Amino acid sequence: MESVFVTGTDTGVGKTYVAAGIAAALRRRGASVGVMKPFAAGAPGDVDGDAAVLGDAAGSGDDPPHLVCPHRYTMAASPYTAWMRGGEPKPDINRVLECYEEIEGMHDVVVVEGIGGVMTPILRSYSVADLIADMGIPAVVVCPNVLGAVNHTIMTVDACRRSNVTVRGIVINGGAGRPDSDRYDRHVLEQDLEELCGFNILGFVPPMPKAAAGEEAAAGARQTTSQAVGRLLDVSQIAGA
Ligand SMILES: Nc1ncnc2c1ncn2[C@@H]1O[C@H](COP(=O)(O)OP(=O)(O)O)[C@@H](O)[C@H]1O
Ligand SMILES: [Mg+2]
Repeated sequence: MESVFVTGTDTGVGKTYVAAGIAAALRRRGASVGVMKPFAAGAPGDVDGDAAVLGDAAGSGDDPPHLVCPHRYTMAASPYTAWMRGGEPKPDINRVLECYEEIEGMHDVVVVEGIGGVMTPILRSYSVADLIADMGIPAVVVCPNVLGAVNHTIMTVDACRRSNVTVRGIVINGGAGRPDSDRYDRHVLEQDLEELCGFNILGFVPPMPKAAAGEEAAAGARQTTSQAVGRLLDVSQIAGA
């Protein structure tokens, strides 16, 4: 089984949804699954949202938060911007890599969720793609089936290749992106990405029902959703499971 880094063509494309699905599917196969969100951004109360979704899906919600999510920024921006413009702590890549090693040592496999897209800056000349390369794990790219997806997916995979990141393939998410955006026919997009670019399509996630209100109900509904998403993904290609 191989750990994986879930990135996407943009922010808000469904990285958390898909990463939680992968974690749930690996857990269902009997693996001990760790998760990581090396950089998170958002208001207090929101900032740990992605890590909580991932931890619930993986069954590793009791792992130490400072290992799962070593950098929490208040400014809704890239780590570089939060540091340079927001006066927040400088991103510490060695710390991220050490936290990853520790989590990897505690579990059979780790699912890492990125921040933004692959060219999101962490330091002045250090992007998310560079972090994936330094972690030494392959990437899965999430793209929404909206017009513009072919362009964004090709650019994302090219950026991965330039940083020597192996891309396992693409997950198409039919439930993310702006509600008013023009949807791309799922099958046409799959054909384009496979035939024109030679990319592996690792799954399609349709729009899923909204989680019920209330914290506990929401946590339960989220887990059900993660399990349902996991069943739609080719986890043997994603993580060799
Ligand atoms: N397949 C889907 N069905 C329904 N809602 C979705 C789906 N995928 C994503 N969403 C919603 O879209 C928003 C962005 O998804 P998220 O996974 O948080 O993106 P990212 O992690 O890339 O920022 C969230 O509100 C999420 O609940
Ligand atoms: Mg997310």
